[in-house]
Amino acid sequence: MAATPISVSSHCCSSSSPYPNLSSIWSRQNPNYFIFPATSPKPKSASLQFNSNAFPTVVSMQDGSLAATVAGLQNEAPLKKLKDGLTSVTPPKENTQISNFVVNDGKSTTSITVVGASGDLAKKKIFPALFALYYEDCLPEHFTIFGYARSKMTDAELRNMVSKTLTCRIDKRENCDEKMEQFLQRCFYHSGQYDSQENFAELDKILKEHEAGRISNRLFYLSIPPNIFVDAVKCASLSASASAGWTRVIVEKPFGRDSESSAALTKSLKQYLNEDQIFRIDHYLGKELVENLSVLRFSNLIFEPLWSRQYIRNVQLIFSEDFGTEGRGGYFDHYGIMRDIMQNHLLQILALFAMETPVSLDAEDIRNEKVKVLRSMRPIRVDDVIIGQYKSHTKGGDSYPGYTDDKTVLKDSLTPTFAAAALFIDNARWDGVPFLMKAGKALHDKRAEIRVQFRHVPGNLYNRNFGTDLDLATNELVIRVQPDEAIYLKINNKVPGLGMRLDRSNLNLLYKARYSKEIPDAYERLLLDAVEGERRLFIRSDELDAAWALFTPVLKDLEEKKKIPEYYPYGSRGPVGAHYLAARYNVKWGDLGVDE
Ligand code: NDP
Ligand code: BG6
Repeated sequence: MAATPISVSSHCCSSSSPYPNLSSIWSRQNPNYFIFPATSPKPKSASLQFNSNAFPTVVSMQDGSLAATVAGLQNEAPLKKLKDGLTSVTPPKENTQISNFVVNDGKSTTSITVVGASGDLAKKKIFPALFALYYEDCLPEHFTIFGYARSKMTDAELRNMVSKTLTCRIDKRENCDEKMEQFLQRCFYHSGQYDSQENFAELDKILKEHEAGRISNRLFYLSIPPNIFVDAVKCASLSASASAGWTRVIVEKPFGRDSESSAALTKSLKQYLNEDQIFRIDHYLGKELVENLSVLRFSNLIFEPLWSRQYIRNVQLIFSEDFGTEGRGGYFDHYGIMRDIMQNHLLQILALFAMETPVSLDAEDIRNEKVKVLRSMRPIRVDDVIIGQYKSHTKGGDSYPGYTDDKTVLKDSLTPTFAAAALFIDNARWDGVPFLMKAGKALHDKRAEIRVQFRHVPGNLYNRNFGTDLDLATNELVIRVQPDEAIYLKINNKVPGLGMRLDRSNLNLLYKARYSKEIPDAYERLLLDAVEGERRLFIRSDELDAAWALFTPVLKDLEEKKKIPEYYPYGSRGPVGAHYLAARYNVKWGDLGVDE
């Protein structure tokens, strides 16, 4: 079709004030549409004058650009300000179908829908992470964020809710408020049931309006309780999948509570999605120091040669929180600490730590190596696990509740809030090396770390001369995931002076001393990866199966035998049984050493 001459005029704020920046770009590839580039300031109103009958009536302005399409007979189409800053030309009656909105600027658009937007995780983590990505210009040029949940909310109410948890943490740049406002203008809300295809079809319709005919990619973040995952995936997939671009779904843990339920969940999800579309999140994989594990190991000559049974005596994976399950008792009581932390966060770290060198940094190469480690592991023996539960405690006049004081927890609940376990990898590299895990809530401090204790120096000269038990003072590499991210190596060192006295000192890389930039939240990295289709930090279904295969028998055993947990006071260092377990393998917990 030949380009037909048109004239365009627009008005900022009043019809008498022409808006000079608004100019049209004629597309040579498809003369049926034209675009007005992003303008500043945005016109509050504009009108399009068409000299040809064949010319457009639809203009959408959701991201600073205006677009128009061929839409039939129309001489002058008034631009109408829609709610929430979206401006559109009223289409003629016969062209109200969404499919008539065509913006062909060669770009795609990404719609991110947070399913369960009214919930804790969405407020605490997902929206702030999305804002941080927007702030850093990491989101695609054209994107829209939708909140979806059953709660009734307007767009303005969602924005108000979200705005309370957004922070300008990144570099504290001056234009943060402005950026925040711009971000909020891209956030919308739709209320619906999780099992209603009809409600998701409504969402689809609104998404299409916002996508304005561009190739649309859609990301759904399921931030909802696990019992409604499948309903939501079914409805999202059948009624709100992208028609031209990709559709991906981020699923939050827990992925089942044992091998059977996890396999059933995977099977159900795969009725509606391919494995490639499922992004199973384990937010520990998005933590800076966990990502750095492979860098540390594979790009430093000094570490990789030591990374085996020959030099490493034991590896410890430690997670502790100094608060209880307050507010999440209902969820937690059904899972317990082994499912909540060990089977996923700590095991994932272990797999990354222990894997062989992958062929490349491609997601599949890395995940292949992780699966191999998990499949080489011995199922955990019940004797190699100790469990605990915190009880109430009064300290300095303050009293702290016990786990079963939570109203959402059964009074006689045996659910462990603490566990320690010894795991073994039966392969050539790690044969006989104990991997000790410890995870607990309501302990004396909050930390997550990896501790690598090395073997003693054979025939150590200084043992003989100085009588210090240098066999115990072996080298230890600590990778502190949080708080105060750090990597430090404990070495034996001469205390300066004329005499010869040794002590243990740290070669210390404390992140906040070395790097001025704040560390991004794990959810930022993972959301960005999901948008970009990078699967490296997400759990593949065979990894999940292998992880459950390790934990399911021991969990069943503990539950069938109704094993009584060892009670420990809120705020303490946890059950003493953890020390006996470590001692069985000639190990001392590094976090409880005198120099910690
Ligand atoms: P919430 O319990 O806050 O639930 C999120 C939303 O889901 C609620 O706002 C509610 O929205 C809807 N919802 C809650 N219960 C039901 C129900 N029984 N039936 C239907 N809808 C329900 O969960 P979180 O935000 O805490 O967590 C979301 C997911 O992320 C869960 O799978 C959780 O296990 C996981 N997770 C959470 C973490 C956290 O720190 N919170 C950490 C790691 C994982 P509405 O009523 O408006 O529909
Ligand atoms: C979640 C667990 O996966 O991780 C919570 O369900 C736990 O129980 C949380 O508190 C810890 O995450 P982070 O990032 O605060 O260490």
